[in-house]
Amino acid sequence: MSYKRHSIQFLVLSLVVSIGVGETLIMFFLNRFGPFSPLVEVLLDAGLLTALVAPIVMLFVYKPMRRGLDELKLASTKLSDRENQMLALLNSLALAKDFETGGHVVRTQKYVTILALRLQCMGHFPDELGGSRIETLTKVAPLHDIGKMGIPDVILTKAGKLTDEERKSIEAHTVIGESILSAAEFEEMADEDLIAIAIKVAGGHHERWDGSGYPRGLMGDDIPVEARIMALADVYDALVSNRPYKCHWTHQQAATEIISMKNTHFDSRVVDAFLMEEANFMRVAAEFA
Ligand SMILES: [Fe+2]
Ligand SMILES: [Fe+2]
Repeated sequence: MSYKRHSIQFLVLSLVVSIGVGETLIMFFLNRFGPFSPLVEVLLDAGLLTALVAPIVMLFVYKPMRRGLDELKLASTKLSDRENQMLALLNSLALAKDFETGGHVVRTQKYVTILALRLQCMGHFPDELGGSRIETLTKVAPLHDIGKMGIPDVILTKAGKLTDEERKSIEAHTVIGESILSAAEFEEMADEDLIAIAIKVAGGHHERWDGSGYPRGLMGDDIPVEARIMALADVYDALVSNRPYKCHWTHQQAATEIISMKNTHFDSRVVDAFLMEEANFMRVAAEFA
């Protein structure tokens, strides 16, 4: 931004100086060859002025400006490469500790995108889902359970009933996820929203609309929109997938369950978006089973 402002100031200054000098030279020489008719004088004046100013602007303003912009573009590409490397690293860490299935990460990412696009079409959450935010949300969705990195395997893989203490420990994957992602943030990221949205999703995807969720018991609109979307995607996938402790439900059973949790577990707008996208949910579930 400061680079742009500086370049514009320099451009204006160069124009003023070169027009001033050019005009003085033209007036000096024109008077020697004159007198001309006013029209010819204006045409000669404009032509000579352009001929004098254009190369100066080209040499001292346009070329350095282009070079600067190319450098900025290169720097931003390097930043986004760094971000992509960081995301890939975090993703592989998340997958390494994924006790559900690798497919869970892929499917939930697709469900999140489907829901977000539908909500955008419905005109909901223009700020949270505007610009490139859906793209960012899609990128960070696979990191929603990254906090499981910090939970002992013996608890994560326990087949039997969990004690209260063990349940609390598992629930902490939300806040652990927030900490891991905060630590992954670096200065001057190409996508400023990336880590912020990742933190919202990791920290809020187990919150419930009626305030009965965890870790903070947030209610309604206090729950980040991105986390509300992730919550439905996560629950749907858990319902229709086989788990060590249960057989998969049919899509219809899962849809009935999700509808019954409208305004208790889920934001009604997200449920409505799901109902409009049932065919796509079924397609993803079958394709990435
Ligand atoms: Fe989770
Ligand atoms: Fe999950």
